[in-house]
Amino acid sequence: MIKKGRKVSSPPSLALRLSVKSRPAERKIQMAEKSQILLIDDDEQSCTALSLLLKKIGYAVETSHSGEHALKLLQDVSFDLIISDLVLPGISGIDVLKWVKDDSPETCVILITGKASAETAVEAMREGALDYITKPFNLDRLKVQIEKALEKRRLIMENKYLRQQLHGRYRFDNIIGTSQAMQRVFSRMEKVTATDSTILVLGASGTGKELVARAIHYNSPRKDKPFIAINCGAIPAELLESELFGHVKGAFTGAIADSPGKFEVANHGTIFLDEIGDMPQQLQMKLLRVLQEHEFERVGSNQKIHLNIRLISATNVDLQERVKTGQFREDLYYRLNVIPIHLPPLKERRGDIPQLARFFVEKICREMKRPQVTIGDDAMQAMEEYHWPGNVREMENIIERTIALTDSQIIGRKDLPSDIGKSLSKTTSFPPQVTPRGINMNRVIADIERDMIAQAMVLGHGVKARAAELLKINRTTLVEKMKRLGMEKQADE
Ligand SMILES: Nc1ncnc2c1ncn2[C@@H]1O[C@H](COP(=O)(O)OP(=O)(O)OP(=O)(O)O)[C@@H](O)[C@H]1O
Ligand SMILES: [Mg+2]
Repeated sequence: MIKKGRKVSSPPSLALRLSVKSRPAERKIQMAEKSQILLIDDDEQSCTALSLLLKKIGYAVETSHSGEHALKLLQDVSFDLIISDLVLPGISGIDVLKWVKDDSPETCVILITGKASAETAVEAMREGALDYITKPFNLDRLKVQIEKALEKRRLIMENKYLRQQLHGRYRFDNIIGTSQAMQRVFSRMEKVTATDSTILVLGASGTGKELVARAIHYNSPRKDKPFIAINCGAIPAELLESELFGHVKGAFTGAIADSPGKFEVANHGTIFLDEIGDMPQQLQMKLLRVLQEHEFERVGSNQKIHLNIRLISATNVDLQERVKTGQFREDLYYRLNVIPIHLPPLKERRGDIPQLARFFVEKICREMKRPQVTIGDDAMQAMEEYHWPGNVREMENIIERTIALTDSQIIGRKDLPSDIGKSLSKTTSFPPQVTPRGINMNRVIADIERDMIAQAMVLGHGVKARAAELLKINRTTLVEKMKRLGMEKQADE
């Protein structure tokens, strides 16, 4: 079985697509978009030829020449249809098929092979392949098969959407994300909301951990009971115990009256222990005991209080690492990590950026009671290329600031903070990320070259021969490059 890991790098993700999470207005736009096909074939020539044909027919096509690469792509991007060679070096077409069926059963897979055999065909169909075609294939037949597959997917998605609306499960709609990574988050959330399972939400700052915790609570049977959040990192260690478990009058200096703790207030509801990685060691032990025994006492009291609570904790630190270094108790870690939910950083799900940006623009304009503004293409592209160290929270803040400061109806790149609109070579991670909108590769490379030449010229005190030496190219190449890059003035000097 192939292990589903977290995404390693941002693959060239594609435009937004129909999702059960999308709102009706967005659905229409997405349905009008081209169907997205992933074509997997290790025979590069045949892959390119088929890809061109399919593009000509009007499909958006991504190609991949190995099962490994295809799986990386699939972790972040959902496709409407996958056409895969059955025999691939390493991870085979059947492995890809199994992964897809496990991950997003609504995606149709057609397998191609040059070595047709009844056995593999049967296996492929049994594993859920929609169809099976042999090479060299008949293009007209393939076209029909593709249309059929896309129609089937459309019906499945439509059905799923209607069913969910009918059952009132159309409910995480304040959490935006159509990337595969977010779809996995939603599907895990759906599975756990009805249960009392302990959940550990993991993710960098601003990725939406608290939002997810709240959504789970407000969709759970405990929704009418309290949701109490406490930031374990923000409260001094000596106060945290009484904050969590309460105290009785006289328990310590300053305890002038009985006071319930967060656990007591949250009883029968959900407690959200944020920044759990920062919980002081002495309290880790107590928390473990409380979770095991389902009861606790207020500080200074012997009276047991029975606990009936759902626990969701969250952290942006590597808890496993803290366990290894002895900063976090291993037994507590296992108690908390019953169901982990990983929220990937925004730069690893760039496909979500446009929808998130539009969501915040609409929300903020509504809150500020001003007419809706739109995001210009140049601004959207800059946002898609930016690396978002502060994740979704940073985007929300930037959009709010931009809307507050601009009078124009369309947000342009110039309206965004300079970090976002700046030269790509300075703001993007390396290598620069390809976004759903595509990337102007020549411009990025030119930006990088221009930047390096300018630095070398400064270091070489304006002497081109010296700058060329520093860049390990010859002087003539340097002069040619400078001319090509619009640095004529310096080149001629
Ligand atoms: N997928 C999303 N869709 C819509 N809004 C989001 C999403 N993710 C995060 N947000 C918004 O971004 C902001 C930050 O989210 P949240 O506070 O849940 O992040 P966090 O992971 O808890 O951050 P921190 O680690 O800094 O506490 C919130 O306003 C939240 O509503
Ligand atoms: Mg938080």
